[in-house]
Parts: sequence; structure tokens; C-alpha cells
Amino acid sequence: MSGNPPATDGLDQAALWEFSKTPLPEGVPSFDPNDVVESAVIRRLVGNWHRRATVKRDEPDLDELFEPERADYPEKILPFHDHPTYLALDPAKRSELLSWAWIAYNRHTVMAEQKVANPAFALVMEGEYPGLSGEALNLSLAQAMVDEQYHTLMHLNASAVTRRRRGHAMPDDALPLSYTARVHQELRDKAAERWQQSLTTLAFATVSEISINAYLDLLADDTEIQPINSTTATLHNRDEYCHASISHVLAQTVYDKLDATQRRFFLDMLMEGLDAFVTNDYSTWRRIVDLSGIAGGREMLMDCQAESGRKRLVRDYTGLRKLVDELGVADQVDFDWSRSHVTG
Ligand SMILES: [Fe+2]
Ligand SMILES: [Fe+2]
Repeated sequence: MSGNPPATDGLDQAALWEFSKTPLPEGVPSFDPNDVVESAVIRRLVGNWHRRATVKRDEPDLDELFEPERADYPEKILPFHDHPTYLALDPAKRSELLSWAWIAYNRHTVMAEQKVANPAFALVMEGEYPGLSGEALNLSLAQAMVDEQYHTLMHLNASAVTRRRRGHAMPDDALPLSYTARVHQELRDKAAERWQQSLTTLAFATVSEISINAYLDLLADDTEIQPINSTTATLHNRDEYCHASISHVLAQTVYDKLDATQRRFFLDMLMEGLDAFVTNDYSTWRRIVDLSGIAGGREMLMDCQAESGRKRLVRDYTGLRKLVDELGVADQVDFDWSRSHVTG
């Protein structure tokens, strides 16, 4: 991650930003394709969790840090940011859409935690997958589940302060399930066998845990938006670098133990998960433009959806690409990596 801290006049906020940008403690592994000694990776992460985990830090006073004149979400990543219908809106309406975008971003993040990541970690702890057991692993999974539950709280709090300070109800339940959560559930419902359901959840969690850094970076690096929003993403991201390492180990270890049919299924679910995860969620956008009463909103979204270049929100797939390469299966998966670039 890069970028300078947003201009702040609160010491607490500056301190929080500093913390969010400090390097991770020594010993926290990043993706090292040569480091496949899972026990060493997992043990190191277990050992330094108490020093690095966001849940171990003081909570900032979000209300105090709110800056009403700032946008709640980066305008440049709205799929319709340069569409004439959007450009013709008055500033208050644009601001309302940006607030909704932030509420939806938080909701999607919470769903990734509650419906994919934590259920997968719980299944691993229950012994659902071959090759995955042991004290250090269970400790690291329990820590990761605490992290995810805390991330859920962080994002719920972030939405709550936005509603309070903007004076709009913007309820979560007015929005549909996130696209990723829907696809995950549909694939689980379609799966005839228990092992298929379990591998579906593990595959989606693998994608989410390895790719969520890129999703959080969309906001973490933005110095123009509401600082508490970018800082929420940055703090969350710190924990996710470690989860990515854990998930990498989980996927490699399980894949090694699967038979040929199960391997094929797991790879298919990885690609389903990646497709879903990087896609702009137009069902959510349709609901938002309806709720905001944007004249011509539906047509605006149809215009954007018709342009293939706007279909993907996250365009940095490097994490999953590395996993696929390490598994030695790059020639067995069907995904257009060509538009991959590191967002910044
Ligand atoms: Fe998380
Ligand atoms: Fe995570």
C-alpha cells in the first residue's frame, strides 16, 4: 500500500493513520511461493497475533473523526462516474450515491466475512477437509475468526456513523445479498454431494481471503475520501495479509490430498469464486439508483454494463494467479487474466 495520510487536524486520527501504515511485525510472511512449510508459516502467525491484530488495538472515536465535506467513497471507481446522467446530478444527489456506495461496500465486506470466510474456517476446524488439522492450525483459525468477527463490527460501525452523520436511513436490508454471496449459495444449493458443498465454500473463501487485499486497497489508498473510511479499509487490510498466507496454505494442503475429480471441481469453484468476487455488483446498483430516485438511473447502469471493461470492480488478481501457478494448474483454468493490473 502506498499514499500519504489524508490532511487531518485530529491527533487521534493521525496516530491511527500512523498505526495503519506501520509495517507488519517481523516474521509475518507475505506470499512467498517457495515457503510451503505450512507449520512454520502458521506457527509464526499464531505467535505474533497478539501484536499485530487490529482487534487488539484501541477503537477510534469514529463520530469525532468524521469530516462531512469529504466524499464517503471514491467517485472514480463508480462504474458510472463519467456517464452523462451521473454528471448531470446535483452535488447533494451525487453525495447520497457515494454514501450508498460506502454502505454497500461495508455490507459486501461483512457478507464475505459472515457467509464465506468464517464458515470456511469453521469447517476446517471441524475436520471437514483432508490434511488440515493440528494445534497450531486450529489456533490460527480461531484467531482469524476473531479477526473476521471484528472486521464485521468495524464495517457495521463505519456504516452506522455514516448514517448518523449524513442523516439518511440507508438500511442494509434495503439492499440485496451481495453478488458473491448469492453465487456462493446458488452453487452450494446445486451441489449434490457434501464434499462438493464443502469445497465450494473453501474455494470461495480462498478467493476472498487472497483477493480481499485488492478490494480493500480500492479505498485504503485513497487520500481524498472520508479518512475514517480509508483507515477502516487499511486496518482491515493489515489482518488480511496474514489471512491470505493462511488461506494459501489451506488451499495448497487440501489440493494435494484431493483425487482428480475433486481437484477439477475445486479449480472450477475457484474460478467461479474469482469471477463473482471481481464483478461490479449491478443488482446492488439497480436497487441504489431506485432508492435514490435517480431519473434514468436504470438506463445509465445498462449502458455501463454493456461495456465489458466496466464489468470488473477489482482488477488485481495477482494473489490468486500466484496460487494457481504454484498448484501448477494455470493451463487448467479458464479465466481472463489479461486485464489484471495492480490497482493504485
Ligand atoms: Fe476480514
Ligand atoms: Fe480474512
